[in-house]
Amino acid sequence: MKIDGRPYRTIFPEPGGDAVLVIDQTRLPFAFEIRRLARAEEAAEAIRTMVVRGAPLIGVTAAYGLALGLREDPSDAGLARFGAMLAATRPTAVNLRWALDRLGATLRPLPPDIRAAQAFAEAGRIAEEDVANCRAIGQHGSRLIAEAARARGGRVTVLTHCNAGWLATVDWGTALAPIYAAHDAGVPVHVLVDETRPRNQGAALTAFELHAHGVPHTVIADNAGGHLMQHGQVDLCIVGSDRTTATGDVCNKIGTYLKALAAHDNRVPFYAALPVSTIDWTLRDGVAEIPIEERDAREVTHLTGRTADGGFATVQVVSPGSPVANPAFDVTPARLVTGVITERGVTEASAEGLLRLYPERRAAA
Ligand code: MRU
Repeated sequence: MKIDGRPYRTIFPEPGGDAVLVIDQTRLPFAFEIRRLARAEEAAEAIRTMVVRGAPLIGVTAAYGLALGLREDPSDAGLARFGAMLAATRPTAVNLRWALDRLGATLRPLPPDIRAAQAFAEAGRIAEEDVANCRAIGQHGSRLIAEAARARGGRVTVLTHCNAGWLATVDWGTALAPIYAAHDAGVPVHVLVDETRPRNQGAALTAFELHAHGVPHTVIADNAGGHLMQHGQVDLCIVGSDRTTATGDVCNKIGTYLKALAAHDNRVPFYAALPVSTIDWTLRDGVAEIPIEERDAREVTHLTGRTADGGFATVQVVSPGSPVANPAFDVTPARLVTGVITERGVTEASAEGLLRLYPERRAAA
């Protein structure tokens, strides 16, 4: 995607190959800054503090992080140590483990002296695949938006939650990819952007992306979606996924489930857009089995934003002394999901639907 006319990806190797560069998402939308990650520990810290975030992007960052670590210690012990450190950064998005497992399987049989170079190459392949998958998700999903526009005879309004755009992936995004593809093809699409408390990924990141690309949108308070659905102002919901079970349960940013409930009650189609790296084929019951990240209470008690003089300030918004809970994700059961949009096409959120798109998994099912 382009920022001020210049094409960017969210992560890219530094020319010369000594480090990887990422966009610092904790500074957006008010400052566009590139951060340099030169060691595995720095990559882990960037994931933990959400300098980079979004399921596909943290998978790619972990892969590059492992490559950076192996430059210091390419032994079996180093592989295990850096892998464990990176895997422990965030528990919910399965892409992280998926990327590290993939690198581990590629690297373990190799002699240590070539592991770092091979790890960089494999991380680059994962990044390229993510771009291709997200582009394909965009093509498949844009047909749903175009159909809705035809049925409506005009503008389609899509509600999305959190940020599942190019900032959450390497490029294009998952939930936003169909929107970009439809918009670029001339389909009149308008996006309702949930602000997504507590970290405001919708208000800060999704709004930033859509504005930069010229996609018409409106930011709404998280609690507004149900009301707008009741009043016929939402045609379609499209969200991302951090982990999808083999049965089609979708785990995504906290608050997604409430939107799915409201969509179900109002017969608004509810889609999750996700690349294969997000599917956890080992799980069948998302509510019972997916580990939900519990984040720092300070994300709920405090808000950071820009002040009138252009500086940044953090203010407390919760009554001092009250206990706070901060679960970062929730699970939307498959029965509330109209369909999933993957790089292979659109299918129903069910074991059978997923196996139709990924028949190679039938043997293991
Ligand atoms: O906590 P975050 O910002 O990493 O959560 C991101 C989301 O929940 C996204 O919707 C999800 O990763 C899908 S991104 C393509």
